[in-house]
Amino acid sequence: MEILIRNEREEDRRTVEEVTREAFWNLYAPGCSEHYIVHAMRQHQDFIPELDYVALVDGRIVGNIMYTRAALANDAGERLEIASFGPVSVDPEFQRMGIGSRLIRHSLPVARGLGFGVVAIYGDPHNYCKHGFKNGKDLGISDGNGDYPYGLLALELTPGRPSFRP
Ligand SMILES: CC(C)(COP(=O)(O)OP(=O)(O)OC[C@H]1O[C@@H](n2cnc3c(N)ncnc32)[C@H](O)[C@@H]1OP(=O)(O)O)[C@@H](O)C(=O)NCCC(=O)NCCS
Repeated sequence: MEILIRNEREEDRRTVEEVTREAFWNLYAPGCSEHYIVHAMRQHQDFIPELDYVALVDGRIVGNIMYTRAALANDAGERLEIASFGPVSVDPEFQRMGIGSRLIRHSLPVARGLGFGVVAIYGDPHNYCKHGFKNGKDLGISDGNGDYPYGLLALELTPGRPSFRP
């Protein structure tokens, strides 16, 4: 099975939202809202179009990943611009075939090339630790309350952000 990864185009948008809806439907709650989040994200000032990718199999869009700009702040009041991704969606019919992994593995080096040294997300560690993500606690990255939620994960794309180490 050949998987093609390319940037999302304007004409892909509806299909991407449908794939997102199918991927998340009844998964975490009755119905889902992730397809609306995708719809709204593209208009947001923090949306990163260069990191908006679709996966195609036989010309059919079956997956998507989207990134936004985010920031880490430390006690000294410094800020570090980082990237965050999500939702990541793969059509249920095409899950467990490596497509989600391809979207992640394709986009992370591009994020690094765009100058992002860290990617931080909320997600299931099972899905992301295999791609190098660690719990925020391991990197000294908490949420705004100083807590380390189970799903707060981060990956250092470039080493050396001393002022943000624990
Ligand atoms: C989470 C999600 C994006 C992962 O995408 P995916 O394409 O299914 O992911 P992959 O195929 O790369 O990996 C999933 C599993 O399939 C396995 N796999 C990959 N290719 C395989 C193959 N050819 N044969 C058998 N298993 C395979 C992987 O090893 C992995 O196993 P693991 O879970 O035991 O580690 C997708 O399942 C999804 O859309 N889920 C619903 C929405 C969601 O939860 N999104 C994430 C939260 S934002």
